[in-house]
Amino acid sequence: MARFFIEGGKRLSGEVNVSGAKNSALPIIAAALLTDKKVTLKNVPDVFDVRTMIELVTHLGARVDFKRNTLSIHTPKVKRLEAPYDIVTRMRASYYVLGALIAREKRASVAMPGGCAIGPRPIDLHIKGFTALGTKISITEGYINADARNLRGQNVDLQGPKGTSVGATINVMLAASRARGKTVISPAAAEPEVVDVANFLRALGVEISGQGSHEITVVGCDSFHSGVNYKIIPDRIEAGTFATVAAITRSRIVVKRAVSEHMTSVLEKLREIGLVIREAEDGIIVDGRGRRKATDIFVAPYPGFPTDMQAQFMALLSTIPGTSTIKESIFENRFMQAVELMRMGANITIEGDTAVIKGVKKLSGTQLMASDLRASSALVLAGLAAKGTTVVRRIYHLDRGYEKFEVKLRRLGASIRRGK
Ligand code: UD1
Repeated sequence: MARFFIEGGKRLSGEVNVSGAKNSALPIIAAALLTDKKVTLKNVPDVFDVRTMIELVTHLGARVDFKRNTLSIHTPKVKRLEAPYDIVTRMRASYYVLGALIAREKRASVAMPGGCAIGPRPIDLHIKGFTALGTKISITEGYINADARNLRGQNVDLQGPKGTSVGATINVMLAASRARGKTVISPAAAEPEVVDVANFLRALGVEISGQGSHEITVVGCDSFHSGVNYKIIPDRIEAGTFATVAAITRSRIVVKRAVSEHMTSVLEKLREIGLVIREAEDGIIVDGRGRRKATDIFVAPYPGFPTDMQAQFMALLSTIPGTSTIKESIFENRFMQAVELMRMGANITIEGDTAVIKGVKKLSGTQLMASDLRASSALVLAGLAAKGTTVVRRIYHLDRGYEKFEVKLRRLGASIRRGK
């Protein structure tokens, strides 16, 4: 199994190009199943999760061509209505084909996504949303079966115990795109990826408004535009990860294509820590060479501090003098990286949903095991700052969501290689 070997302690410099957003690309690829016309997507990141979604839509009948980050998808006919367990189990976001198939075929069957390393991840809000649209849902032998012959627009309440849901908002938008009449989703998630999916649906010809706010209106339609060509937004989490690389390695890095409006809470925190961040022509310049100080982070839905950046910040804060805290309110059990960081000498205590981090002078390189996607990048960041050699195992987690991560880091001057 592949591993990263990192020699820490190097100052980095130069420019890095941010890829397209994985969390936009996945639902947009599923959304391409809504139409029988050909769709071309640009800026699609070549990461494992995208490859898995391509495999899934191909299984359902799509003809796909993926070259140099351009993906064309054409589904004249849906051939299968079932998303099998062996694909869904690899990637939770497979559930987006449920919304798309409900819309197009009025029937679908998708294996139940299991739990995952970052805690229980229920799908009750997705089911609540589909049911509100007139879909009958049954669960048999580990599959969610949808009968949407009575699909119609409706008011959909997506309030859950932890607020609304990104995935459920998008899935209901997809189903509503071909429902009779008007759907109002409230509260809707306001993440930039939700806006991106809405903009893609608009490009297809769906009447949709309110994206970016907590109320989204969709008016279903049945005929779609031809020749749709859509460019996916840059990945704000990848951009934030590289900004954090500058911080932890005390370097100056130009993060090209980073969209600062999508990253306000992350950039605010980095500035509070002591970094100097400026807008560049096509991205941002992040300078981490100055003094740095501890901070407190409260993870929250967009535009709050993203849960997907919390692990990378834990690595960073482990190297900054003083006491910092991170409160994670979205997912339970998302501090998996803490024990590995502690093996590098970090001083972290977990008290319920809060991590207390006391900065140490230096982390030291050792053997580490990645547990999930963002935890993996946190361990790589720690390795870049640590003294000596760090070996990160199970980097297949990282490959799910970062495109050519080590290649991009090497171009910045990092000593990192992939090996067995
Ligand atoms: C998406 C992102 C993920 C990010 C997360 C939060 C993708 C592919 N993944 O995940 O990277 O960390 O948003 O920004 O885009 N919940 C329920 N019932 C549901 C659905 C969710 O209770 O039916 C809960 C979850 O357990 C969690 C919270 O709602 O506590 C938010 O989850 P959600 O926004 O749905 O995250 P995902 O869409 O799974």
